[in-house]
Amino acid sequence: MEEEKQRGKGHRLLLMPSPLQGHITPFLHLGDILFSKGFSITILHTIFNSPNPSSYPHFTFHAIPDGLSETEASTLDAVLLTDLINIRCKHPLKEWLASSVLSHQEPVSCFISDAALHFTQPVCDELKLPRLVLRTGGASSFLVFASFPLLREKGYLPVQESRLDEPVVDLPPLKVKDLPKFQSQDPEAFYKLVCRFVEECKASSGVIWNTFEELESSALTKLRQDFSIPIYPIGPFHKHLLTGSASSTSLLTPDKSCMSWLDQQDRNSVVYVSFGSIAAISEAEFLEIAWGLANSKQPFLWVIRPGLIHGSEWFEPLPSGFLENLGGRGYIVKWAPQEQVLSHPAVGAFWTHNGWNSTLESICEGVPMICMPCFADQKVNAKYASSVWRVGVQLQNKLDRGEVEKTIKTLMVGDEGNEIRENALNLKEKVNVSLKQGGSSYCFLDRLVSDILSLKS
Ligand code: UDX
Repeated sequence: MEEEKQRGKGHRLLLMPSPLQGHITPFLHLGDILFSKGFSITILHTIFNSPNPSSYPHFTFHAIPDGLSETEASTLDAVLLTDLINIRCKHPLKEWLASSVLSHQEPVSCFISDAALHFTQPVCDELKLPRLVLRTGGASSFLVFASFPLLREKGYLPVQESRLDEPVVDLPPLKVKDLPKFQSQDPEAFYKLVCRFVEECKASSGVIWNTFEELESSALTKLRQDFSIPIYPIGPFHKHLLTGSASSTSLLTPDKSCMSWLDQQDRNSVVYVSFGSIAAISEAEFLEIAWGLANSKQPFLWVIRPGLIHGSEWFEPLPSGFLENLGGRGYIVKWAPQEQVLSHPAVGAFWTHNGWNSTLESICEGVPMICMPCFADQKVNAKYASSVWRVGVQLQNKLDRGEVEKTIKTLMVGDEGNEIRENALNLKEKVNVSLKQGGSSYCFLDRLVSDILSLKS
């Protein structure tokens, strides 16, 4: 055990996440996992959305100037933001690496880059520094990204409204409507970014995934065939860490008052509703969600992030007296301690946008999902959650209060709901097995540590 904690001693790792909550969290968790193996950890980050160093006194933090103006520093168009970072951080990173890596007391074993930060591959090549990639999304969605040129060649991309229900023959069980989409100022930008980051993943020394073999074996097998580099599915990251030992990775402060509200609710009764850190909805959609929740008669905990509703500061469009009329059945926060919420026995369902972290966190706690994907990888994640792992139901058709009420009832009270709940508990068990000694994630982590130690810079 003590030996295990020493393996990486005397070696430093440089980790650089994309400045989005859904990317910062898995990076900090990976840092903690590798720190527990003895490695020294430096987190390189942009000025925009920089993580809080005081939560991680055992790491070193270094800011790479991103040169973003006030209007550019925004997640409203995450593709544009990522493109700008890929351009603007290149020289500052190169300069910093050139001056500091060689002079470091401990040898730097490798650079672990977010897949989206493709500019780091040529920088590392130039400095002869091995680069590993952390792909913060799932492997199944990555396989779709890796197939973008083929999907375009076959006419599936760009997605056409008239073909939404057609199966994508090369990627079962996906239909055209499940393919990743992104609203960006420049419609071609998303396609180009994806193709570029896939190419630079292939050029890296290996890709780490926050997933586990049993969950995505088919995609991982295919990726191993297509990529000639090692692939390490070592997730779920947050479950490697001792319960309660992980520091907060949140950019926003979680409102913990919801935990005592949850304590007062019946077991498996609460619908937890959250759409992650970037997704935004219209006022009309917001009201349909609100009335659907109210009419379902189930208690609900709803994360309404400032900025979630287009054109509103917080939840001003909610009719006055809405919450009061529910007699304590609804609780709203700006940001929740999500991992804690999902592990609370009162939570019976998670209405999610299927960001990869949320999807995985739900799977880890055996909580069935109501899937409402918005963009990027989320549609693929939702399809797998509902049709492959069968741990959730997708909100079908258009977002309307009747549909919401029906879907919540299906999941919370019907026979279909019982089956889904059972599947979710079985999958949770598989997570636990994969993390135990001899389990798949445990073994891949062991291999990752050995491989890092044998990398030559
Ligand atoms: C983004 C993309 O949207 C997603 O598709 C991609 O897979 C990762 O990057 P985001 O939309 O924020 O992420 O979703 P998600 O991946 O689910 O990450 C959100 C994180 O914020 C989760 O770890 C979740 O636990 C946390 N969270 C969310 C909170 O801690 N509190 C909240 O109230 C809401």
